[in-house]
Amino acid sequence: MMSKADPWPAAAAGQPRCWRVERAADGTVHAGRAPLAWRIDEPVAAGEVVIRVEAAGFNFKDALACAGHGGVMRTPSLVPGIDAAGVVVGPAAGLSIGTAVIVTGNGMGESRDGGFATHLRIPAVAVIPRPQSLSAADAMALGTAGLTAALACDRLAQLVDGRHGKPDEEWLVTGASGGVGMLAVAMLAGDGRRVVACSRKPAAREQLTRLGAAEVLPPEAVVDPSSKSLVKGRWAGVVETVGGRLLADVLRSVRTGGAVAAIGMAGGVDLVTTVHPFILRGITLAGIDAATQPTQADRAALWVRLAGFWPQIAVHFPVTRLGLEDVDDWATRMLAGTTVGRGVVLPG
Ligand SMILES: NC(=O)c1ccc[n+]([C@@H]2O[C@H](COP(=O)([O-])OP(=O)(O)OC[C@H]3O[C@@H](n4cnc5c(N)ncnc54)[C@H](OP(=O)(O)O)[C@@H]3O)[C@@H](O)[C@H]2O)c1
Repeated sequence: MMSKADPWPAAAAGQPRCWRVERAADGTVHAGRAPLAWRIDEPVAAGEVVIRVEAAGFNFKDALACAGHGGVMRTPSLVPGIDAAGVVVGPAAGLSIGTAVIVTGNGMGESRDGGFATHLRIPAVAVIPRPQSLSAADAMALGTAGLTAALACDRLAQLVDGRHGKPDEEWLVTGASGGVGMLAVAMLAGDGRRVVACSRKPAAREQLTRLGAAEVLPPEAVVDPSSKSLVKGRWAGVVETVGGRLLADVLRSVRTGGAVAAIGMAGGVDLVTTVHPFILRGITLAGIDAATQPTQADRAALWVRLAGFWPQIAVHFPVTRLGLEDVDDWATRMLAGTTVGRGVVLPG
């Protein structure tokens, strides 16, 4: 049960603050703006740095944490935010004060406080230098969604491009109006693929077309209504961000030798399928885990690529800038699947 009453005193003007979520033993969740629980000039643990957060991405995991979901919120009191961008302001092994940085993963917003705060303490090993061309807000418009979309597109290219498919084959992106979905549409289209975007939202059609989708279809037009274990093969590669029933349905219509990148779970966590797509068409179901899989070196390299990609989509990509006071509303809308593109929290 979520309590809407703001349980903490307001931070004084200029005082560091955050969005805090607390889950009591009886499951009651309190959430609201709160002063930071530590002073930014107090000593930090060995190897930690203090970052002034300029922007934090709003990811589906963050929406779950805001609702006190035990699968994401691994500690009874948490500042959500699995990625952030800002500048180093505190003692830093090997990092100069003022360095522009990005931090993603490493337990942020899950087992330790994350980016929905004006300041963040994090081990220096988790910090990546921010490419000069990316502002903090632009970096977080991409954020973990950008890393995830890039990992999925790379993995699918490795799996699919080696086979002897036709150059004009179609690729599918599901949950296409979401952060990962929209960025995957733009990346695949930028690579010259013919991309079909699958979205429940008719209102997102124009934005998806501007990002490069050749066609935008609702899920009912993508899914074959029969209950056959295999239907006509259509997709060479699929970036599947919804999960559950849609993932199972899509597996039936992947072409011989094609592949599906499984990313999300907003549509469900169960997967009821048959072995037929795997043993009769040789398709691959590839899991993507942006939280633990890429090494820090891989992440740094991916961020350089994302910085090069950003100018191609910046004018078309929908980004909603949010204050800490907007966190609750955006989380609720995200869990209901009604947001489009990316939310970026500007905690200052
Ligand atoms: N594996 C990883 O490493 C990784 C990394 C990042 C995110 N993720 C996961 O990937 C998914 C997408 O993340 P995101 O940040 O892009 O989230 P998002 O912006 O909220 O997008 C999710 C999209 O899924 C679609 N959707 C379909 N059924 C839904 C339902 N029942 N409830 C809510 N949405 C539904 C909606 O798109 P349409 O309305 O257009 O259909 C929605 O916009 C999430 O499940 C997230 O947890 C995984």
